[in-house]
Amino acid sequence: MNRTKIKGVGHYVPERVVKNTDLEKVMDTSDEWIVERTGIHERRFGARFEESTTMLAKKASEKAIADAGCQPSDIDFIIFATLSPDYFFPGCGVLLQRELGICETEIGALDVRNQCSGFVYGLSVADQFIKTGHYKNILLVGAEMHSMGLDFTTRGRDVSVIFGDGAGAVVLQPADKGDSSEILSSHLHADGRHAEELAFINPGCHGGVHGNKDKQGYSDNEWDSIFVTQKMLDDHLLFPYMNGQFVFKTAVKKFPEVITKALKSAGKSPDELKLVIPHQANLRISQFVQKLLRLRDDQVYSNIQKYGNTTAASIPIALSEAVEQGVVQRGDLVCLAAFGSGFTWGSVLLHW
Ligand code: UT7
Repeated sequence: MNRTKIKGVGHYVPERVVKNTDLEKVMDTSDEWIVERTGIHERRFGARFEESTTMLAKKASEKAIADAGCQPSDIDFIIFATLSPDYFFPGCGVLLQRELGICETEIGALDVRNQCSGFVYGLSVADQFIKTGHYKNILLVGAEMHSMGLDFTTRGRDVSVIFGDGAGAVVLQPADKGDSSEILSSHLHADGRHAEELAFINPGCHGGVHGNKDKQGYSDNEWDSIFVTQKMLDDHLLFPYMNGQFVFKTAVKKFPEVITKALKSAGKSPDELKLVIPHQANLRISQFVQKLLRLRDDQVYSNIQKYGNTTAASIPIALSEAVEQGVVQRGDLVCLAAFGSGFTWGSVLLHW
């Protein structure tokens, strides 16, 4: 069996900075509320009609590929994690392949739809392919362009103030003999009982079978589309929904559980960790996790203050920044952990 290492990493965030005070102008919210409840001061929004999830991913991928010392044509598989894809289908993986100019290689492209834990899930999938020798240069990217689909009115304020746009990418390769960098383990979990507690339900092909039929205004004509209805538009049902407090309470339980599980599997203790990179959901969640695991301030990475919650992109952006800043050196023990919609959650323990 091979061992897998992350050879290259890179990130890209759009230039446009949106401060909390900018949001105050379009909805009933305040800088004070947002900072106190989430820790977020500002986020980045992509350029409308110029950027998209795939375009952000392209820029992050080019950096990761260069950092790995290879060319786009060396990539032999793409894994793309996002909840804000350019198209309902096809997935962003093939669009990224096209943007990177490597369609002639006909390499496979897989889209991962695990929201906040998409990058962690993708890392685990990539690890299996590298370990078994199936692929040698996997590009894994987490990217989001949330700003395109949020409700920037007071009605949507509990969700829309949290999210931001961005992308992060890694290139995974087999570790060389004697290499101190490797993925040690991954731990993936889900609990579908809470699927609707944090969800973007419409438009969709569910036809109300999960219990929300009345609100959608479906026609009795069996040949009419149920994917999107006029009522969905009229009643503003085409936006994400989050039961914030329930998500929060579950997150502060599941993060420590899955980090502890990763450490136990490797016979390590929290004090041996150089860095935990939690999915950047809410600064208060990260602080809870830090306290519960008795970690020092320097052991938990946070950049939500600058970018908000970038879902599948948040861990690779944070990893890329931590490496860029020299916070993490080759061989350091690092734990990546995520929790979010699904619910899905997971961790990856690695020697950077
Ligand atoms: O990445 C995926 C995983 N996501 C998460 O982990 C998010 C987890 N949840 C959270 O981070 C928090 O629950 C939120 C930040 C979303 C909300 O914070 P909260 O402390 O749970 O607030 P709340 O939902 O209990 O709302 C408190 C009050 C309400 O007003 P009333 O009913 O007390 O009068 C809300 O209407 O704050 C109001 N509110 C706002 N006020 C100003 C909700 N959103 C806003 C807003 N600005 N943007």
